[in-house]
Amino acid sequence: MAKSKSNHDFIERSVGWLIVLTLLTVSVGGLVEIVPLFFQKSTTMPIDRQGNPLNVKPYDPVRLVGRDIYVREGCYNCHSQMIRPFRAETERYGHYSVAGEFIYDRPFQWGSKRTGPDLQRVGGRYSDEWHRVHLNNPRDVVPESNMPAFSWLERPVEADDIEQKMQVLRTLGHPYSDEEIAGARAALEGKTEMEALIAYLQGLGTALSNFK
Ligand code: HEC
Repeated sequence: MAKSKSNHDFIERSVGWLIVLTLLTVSVGGLVEIVPLFFQKSTTMPIDRQGNPLNVKPYDPVRLVGRDIYVREGCYNCHSQMIRPFRAETERYGHYSVAGEFIYDRPFQWGSKRTGPDLQRVGGRYSDEWHRVHLNNPRDVVPESNMPAFSWLERPVEADDIEQKMQVLRTLGHPYSDEEIAGARAALEGKTEMEALIAYLQGLGTALSNFK
């Protein structure tokens, strides 16, 4: 016992060793936790933890653009997309988030800042018109809201790089067909940024709707 105590004393007194051994311990611990996630089906395939299939599809061009607008406008600064498996959260927001839901999110928008409510299950909760009014001026539907207005999103989407974007995602494993990529520009024709963002919001969390 005395010997191991003195070893510990030695480590705590020599900063160099303390740093090296701490880094080693943290790295090994980290790898043991992280590496299995790259190979585990429930984190790499569209399934839940019991192996049931989820209805997760790669974002269609409109939702893909909407998602980029969500990121560009910094919605994640006030909204998370990660329902934790606690009663207080599931009662308020719905089924907790599962890893398989995010396989086509690069990067995912989990976040942790909740100035506003979590948006993981907001898909289908309101009408498109509600979202339009809300994004134009949140106070029109929620008088006490401190969410900023995003009225400038009523402008046409810029779709110049959509094919490239989808091609890059395809190399990362999103199963887009050649036809889908070729038709992407046409799908975005005449859409406003707000419409794209709303389409994205309306799809959020719906992959899990096939079971409770
Ligand atoms: C400064 C913080 C802030 C930012 C930035 C923000 N929001 Fe909000 N959001 C809120 C707050 C607070 C609420 C709750 C009051 C309300 O409904 O307006 C809210 C509510 C919402 C709701 C309704 C959620 C529900 O379940 O009722 C949606 C949808 C939403 N925000 C979408 C967005 C989108 C999309 C963006 C980016 C374009 C965004 N928000 C940016 C603070 C923010």
